[in-house]
Amino acid sequence: MSFFSKKVSRIQPSPTISITAKAKKLKQEGKKIIDFSAGEPDFDTPENVKNAAIKAIEEGKTKYTPVNGTKELIDAIIKKFKRENNLNFDSEEITVGCGGKQVIFNALLATIEKDDEIIIPSPFWVSYPDMAILTEGLPVVLDCSQENNFKINPQDLENKITNRTKWVILNSPSNPTGAFYSELELQNLAKILLKHPHVWVMCDDLYEHIIFDNLKFKNILQVDDKLKPRTFVVNGVSKAYAMTGWRVGYGAGPKELIKEISKIQSQSTTHTSSISQAAAIEALNNSDEFIKKNKKIFQDRRDLIFSNLKNFTELQVFLPQGSFYVYVCCNDIIGKKKEDGIEIKNDIDLSDYFLDEGVAVVPGEAFGCSNFFRISFATSNENINEGCKKIIDACKKLK
Ligand SMILES: Cc1ncc(COP(=O)(O)O)c(C=O)c1O
Repeated sequence: MSFFSKKVSRIQPSPTISITAKAKKLKQEGKKIIDFSAGEPDFDTPENVKNAAIKAIEEGKTKYTPVNGTKELIDAIIKKFKRENNLNFDSEEITVGCGGKQVIFNALLATIEKDDEIIIPSPFWVSYPDMAILTEGLPVVLDCSQENNFKINPQDLENKITNRTKWVILNSPSNPTGAFYSELELQNLAKILLKHPHVWVMCDDLYEHIIFDNLKFKNILQVDDKLKPRTFVVNGVSKAYAMTGWRVGYGAGPKELIKEISKIQSQSTTHTSSISQAAAIEALNNSDEFIKKNKKIFQDRRDLIFSNLKNFTELQVFLPQGSFYVYVCCNDIIGKKKEDGIEIKNDIDLSDYFLDEGVAVVPGEAFGCSNFFRISFATSNENINEGCKKIIDACKKLK
């Protein structure tokens, strides 16, 4: 009998993190790699946020904090929800963890019994299914076709709901496709969800601030507050404020859920770093300009990728409305052969081949949707131009 747990043997290390690590290693060995795999903004954390952290250290804010986060941070989160989403929460409805990732994991651990079902729209963020498995739940993948712009068809959602469904995860804008739900689309999903009162909704809003074309962000709770007693809104500072390494995420939802999450956290990490919490307060309170500036940069980069790839018809690029990812269909490339005669059988082979050719992307397989790959445009314009050229040249070499 293995010493190691079966649950853990059933999951994989995060594929996006492994590809980024592989690309880094090749770079360290002296190979020039354009890294399109990163899941984090390439900007530095804003100065005012860094200074808030330094001040916290100098003021001795270096001790344990309450499990759910400091009062000041919880207040800043409550204000953020009111100001940006017109949602009202009180302090007992907020939890802060080590990134949105831990907040989601805690919520699943707090609620999932063996074989409870979690509906995960695909293409999905890589961690949802493995988190479901770790908590002994069953990930139920809901395919969202490209024809439907990688968004949920409400009828398909209803067809997946069973009496074992505990959660539906909504992620808009989405990683990996950048798909963004309009108010009307959310209303249509809410109509279905209201018919099934045992189902809870997890809104992963991590990319809320990275949206394009003057779109206005809304999550499902803003569209229908009847879902409030069973919705958990997750957000964090990683993507919006270029703070991935600080590890601060937060969630807002019913008190009973927060209480259970708090128990888990008190027996595991206790809380995220007191210094990071001080920095997050500053980020939430004073970053309007930073967000505005980066939104424009990301939109320009999206357009640059699009203009680089749009005339190369063997790859079909899905135009994202948010996030910093482009999802690219490589159906027409699969089945071709490399110069050494070896066939590119799938998007994993293609991504490996691209890495040999000096560009790192993440295969669609990792997001539950094959014959695609994801390009992250959290990188400079020069890298975007060079990386797109490498991709096109590499594809042209295939026979
Ligand atoms: C959709 C989505 N949700 C949640 C997270 C978690 O981010 P963090 O733990 O850094 O807050 C990520 C990170 O890549 C993500 O892409």
